Amino acid sequence: MPTPPVSRRGRALLDAPAMPPYLLEHFARSERPYDPEAAPDGYIPFCIAENKLVWDLLEPKLNAPRGVEAPALGYADMIGPQAFRADLAAFLGTHVLGRPVAPEHVATLAGAGSILEVLFYALADAGEGVLVPTPSYAGFWMDLEGRDDLSVIPVHATGDTAWQVTPALLDAALEQADVPVRALLFTTPNNPLGTVYTPEQLEAVLTWAERRGVHVVFDEVYALSVFGDIPFTSVASLRERLGSHVHIVWAFSKDFAASGLRVGVLVSENEAVLGVMNSLAYWAACSGDTLHLVRQLVTDEAWLARYVEGMRSRLGEARRAVEAVLDASGLPYVAGEAAFFALVDLRAYLDAPTWEAEDALWRRLLEANVNLTPGSAIRAVEPGLFRLCFASVSAATLHVGLQRMVEVLRSVSRS
Ligand SMILES: Cc1ncc(COP(=O)(O)O)c(C=O)c1O
Repeated sequence: MPTPPVSRRGRALLDAPAMPPYLLEHFARSERPYDPEAAPDGYIPFCIAENKLVWDLLEPKLNAPRGVEAPALGYADMIGPQAFRADLAAFLGTHVLGRPVAPEHVATLAGAGSILEVLFYALADAGEGVLVPTPSYAGFWMDLEGRDDLSVIPVHATGDTAWQVTPALLDAALEQADVPVRALLFTTPNNPLGTVYTPEQLEAVLTWAERRGVHVVFDEVYALSVFGDIPFTSVASLRERLGSHVHIVWAFSKDFAASGLRVGVLVSENEAVLGVMNSLAYWAACSGDTLHLVRQLVTDEAWLARYVEGMRSRLGEARRAVEAVLDASGLPYVAGEAAFFALVDLRAYLDAPTWEAEDALWRRLLEANVNLTPGSAIRAVEPGLFRLCFASVSAATLHVGLQRMVEVLRSVSRS
């Protein structure tokens, strides 16, 4: 009998690749990026959640001699060596969570994606459901539906209700779900909306989860990337204790522009959840060298203050540059004061209010070698809302990409 090339579960992954088309295009086109001299028609990514505006702020710190010591090369606690987690907990308490957190309640794995995958493995069984407000970060579907085999149940917010996820919306989603719902995954500040939630809004989400007896995971990976008037509030600061049903995810990927270093963080007081994470950490642990490197970032308060201020002001500048072009071109967008995105309303440029028409417009933009995240990927409730990342290229390239986008939209409205 011939040996099957892969297992049934391996085959399922190959038959339905998790990566959406906009990401496949991104990685293929990244080989030839825009360059005013060498590749003036080169690729401009507006689809990838990376901050490329702060390398010069990070570089002196990352390239400074850092005195790696022998233990960095050895096996250690797979959720992060204790001394590292003590420093990380001190940083998180001061800069992210708004109150102290015990090092035992902090765990690291290779990126927020790994944290989410393992956390939800611990919170729900295959076939069970997780509520995710939409529009949303596209990767949650890969994180939760891939190996964890969970069902993501979208909770659609719309512009008609100022994109708010109300308890009534959550109740309706929970009651209509055809699988048992174990958790809500709430992103704050929001990707893709750029919303910074007030303490009252967060309190409403917390109270809802307590009333309905579900876990609630707050994804706070953009906690420091806030550039507007509303200060970030971590859900940790609203409760003296998180209790066993509230969990917080953070990472170095966004606030420290280091998605390639793969360091994600869980804050949880649930001993059982932490125990599961410990059991699985070996397969997604961060390297000792990488943890040593990021430790240099979070233990230098003077540098941190300068870095965070510079990072915020650059994000704010880029956001204002995008808004100026969108305003001048009469393109509507959702107001936002955090993260790397503007949600742009291109419904008027669709041939018809269908997902096929949205895909056709996305492909027209791609012909100009500019890649936005289409609404289908962020699970918007209706076609035509595109996520534009304004931090993934330099200010000059941002300008060129926006001009390309506006040109395409002009030609669409003429045809
Ligand atoms: C809200 C949110 N959560 C998690 C992630 C995944 O981050 P990481 O690269 O650390 O896995 C992203 C990445 O874009 C994100 O936007």
